[in-house]
Amino acid sequence: MKKIFSIVVVALMVTALVLTGCQKKEAAPAAAAPAASSSSAAAFIGIAMPETHVLRWIKDGNELKADFEKLGYTAEAQWANADQSIQNGQINAFLTQGAKGLVIGCVSDGVTSVVADAARDNVVVVAYDRIIPNTTDYKYFLTFNNFKVGVLEAEGIVEGAKLNEGTAANPKYITLFAGSPTDGNSFFFFDGAMSVLNPLIEKGGVKVIGPYPKTSKDTNAFQQIATENWTASIAKTRMENLLANDAREVVLDAVLSPNDTLARAIVEACKADAKYTSKLPAVSGQDCEAASVAAIRDGTGQYSTVFKNTQKLAEAAAMLVDQELKGQAINIPGAEIATGDLKEIGNTGTGYVTTYLLDPVKITKANYKVPIDAGFFNEEETKTYGF
Ligand code: BGC
Repeated sequence: MKKIFSIVVVALMVTALVLTGCQKKEAAPAAAAPAASSSSAAAFIGIAMPETHVLRWIKDGNELKADFEKLGYTAEAQWANADQSIQNGQINAFLTQGAKGLVIGCVSDGVTSVVADAARDNVVVVAYDRIIPNTTDYKYFLTFNNFKVGVLEAEGIVEGAKLNEGTAANPKYITLFAGSPTDGNSFFFFDGAMSVLNPLIEKGGVKVIGPYPKTSKDTNAFQQIATENWTASIAKTRMENLLANDAREVVLDAVLSPNDTLARAIVEACKADAKYTSKLPAVSGQDCEAASVAAIRDGTGQYSTVFKNTQKLAEAAAMLVDQELKGQAINIPGAEIATGDLKEIGNTGTGYVTTYLLDPVKITKANYKVPIDAGFFNEEETKTYGF
């Protein structure tokens, strides 16, 4: 609870089944030496990913490892099953193995103690797609424009459910979900989405069923719509409860869902309700998970998703660590340094870290081929879904 609270404070201030192979310990690197030096032994990089129940992280970890190896490093990826104490153990083990760099997608602010240890050892730490809150014991955060991700999610359901056409006399009905309250991104996703939805709600054309936090700063209501650890079963149960209670007397036109894993759980709950057998509400998402993109293409599930090219993010992380270890000027092609309002994305709550942003893209049936053309799916996904 304390962790949840502290990350909420950050937001206020700024506005496993692991595939068996995943958790397998790999052989420790023979020796760790800076890649910068022309020494023969490759430096070792530890990659700490938060979870595998949201599939993207499996891919992120594997891509990061491959990208570091391409640059001549040895690297190992571990996944933490959404448990910060497991992740801290994994990071400690990386430090014991002599890691020169750490790429961390953290679970919660409980990671700060091990990041402090890394800082003492002059290890280069990159916060990977999730800010490491409440510390500035590291220099870089590499992510997407997470406010824009939320904007694109909301634009998806506005389009899918024609929310613009709602009137006070004949309103459109929506309900709201947010991501894990331990993940700093959840606040930006939600605030971006509400920047699009609030004007429609205020005009009276859209009505919110269930809790309505206007922004993530509305802590009580936000906690009610947040989904601990991005757990699909929690979202499904909450949707079932909404359908049986608050939404019993209406037909929902749209559901704001913060990612694909939760979107599919929400759609499942709707499909079990007779009211939605012929027409589902428009549901948003992000991550371009293959099952979601297929449903978007076929019109059998969620309406939209957001493409975040995590292959590019992984490449950028490897480049960043490499340049920093070699003492070179940092130059990440395709990434924008967060400035202006976007600088808040890099506010840890105790200070700012240099933040590089990649650009997200909204995906609907009209452009579902974008991630396919970018080579985002693996062969098996391509075969399974006929991409
Ligand atoms: C990431 C999303 C992901 C979510 C759940 C967020 O921090 O930005 O891509 O869906 O975590 O793992």
